[in-house]
Amino acid sequence: MFVKNQWYVAGWDHEIDRAPLARVICGEPIVLYRKFDRTVVALHDACPHRLLPLSMGIKEGDNIRCRYHGLLVNSLGQAIEMPISTERVHKSICTKAYVTLERHRFVWIWIGDEGRADPSLVPNFWPCSTPGWTFDGGYNHIKCDYRLVIDNLMDLTHETYVHQGSIGQREILEAKIETHVDGDNVTVTRWMPAIDAPPFWRNALKKEGPVDRWQICHFLAPSSVIIDVGVAPVSAGATVEKHDQGVRGFVIDAMTPESDTTSHYFWGMARNFDIDDAGFTARFMKQQGAVFLEDVAILEAQQRSILNNPNLKLKAFSIDMGGVRARQLITRMIDAE
Ligand code: FES
Ligand SMILES: [Fe+2]
Repeated sequence: MFVKNQWYVAGWDHEIDRAPLARVICGEPIVLYRKFDRTVVALHDACPHRLLPLSMGIKEGDNIRCRYHGLLVNSLGQAIEMPISTERVHKSICTKAYVTLERHRFVWIWIGDEGRADPSLVPNFWPCSTPGWTFDGGYNHIKCDYRLVIDNLMDLTHETYVHQGSIGQREILEAKIETHVDGDNVTVTRWMPAIDAPPFWRNALKKEGPVDRWQICHFLAPSSVIIDVGVAPVSAGATVEKHDQGVRGFVIDAMTPESDTTSHYFWGMARNFDIDDAGFTARFMKQQGAVFLEDVAILEAQQRSILNNPNLKLKAFSIDMGGVRARQLITRMIDAE
């Protein structure tokens, strides 16, 4: 169910520090921590001796000592001191080390074959690390298949009902949706010309009058969705191709599979307006977190229902095209492996 030879978000840059953090990614238990030089270590979270999780261990410099019998393991996953320290360490005593890198405020991990870990394949979250933009967000654990989250994000018609009280707007249902596939990317475009801006965007724009509003969902294989959102005054002449005239944001979503039916959900918002307003960022994060909790409730209920109805299949309507295409790409990548 998981593509292995791809980068996944292992954590926010601020989540991973000197102390070990345990996280299961694509079914593999992993311990993460930072070395003194701040690079991130990711090891299979099982002591090579009797498999106690290394994440329970004691940090010694850049190494980690197992809390059971004291085997000392270095940041490459190799044992460097036996429980009886005068005994020689055999080089076969080791645990797997994973390749990691840090980009766009996230720590990324390569679960598959380390020889194939290509930094150029990190999903392009450019708004998270481009001058003129600011970015922050949060994390939720969700008890559902990561692909259900992708379906959710590639089909924003759900906003009208799931997010009735917050970001929902009738026009979302009335706008035409266009789906495109290009290599490992799927794009769903919704352009809403000359509408009344919803309160959030009206406040961001700080202006009255009709606006063009857009929502362009980009699926980036294997499991990220970034959504280009914003409004511009109609008079500014924004187009699908070029829409930097008003206020613009990117909803950032990285879903990392934990198991077949549970996921790590890293979310945030990058924006190009009021970028120095830290209070706004914090308030917005709180709102966005509340909106995503509405999705979490729906997605977990959907997952339970799927498990309770093994004989029923998910149906795809026209609104589901983006998710369908994204799943096809994922399946193709899994088959290729
Ligand atoms: S289980 Fe780790 S040293 Fe024995
Ligand atoms: Fe939602």
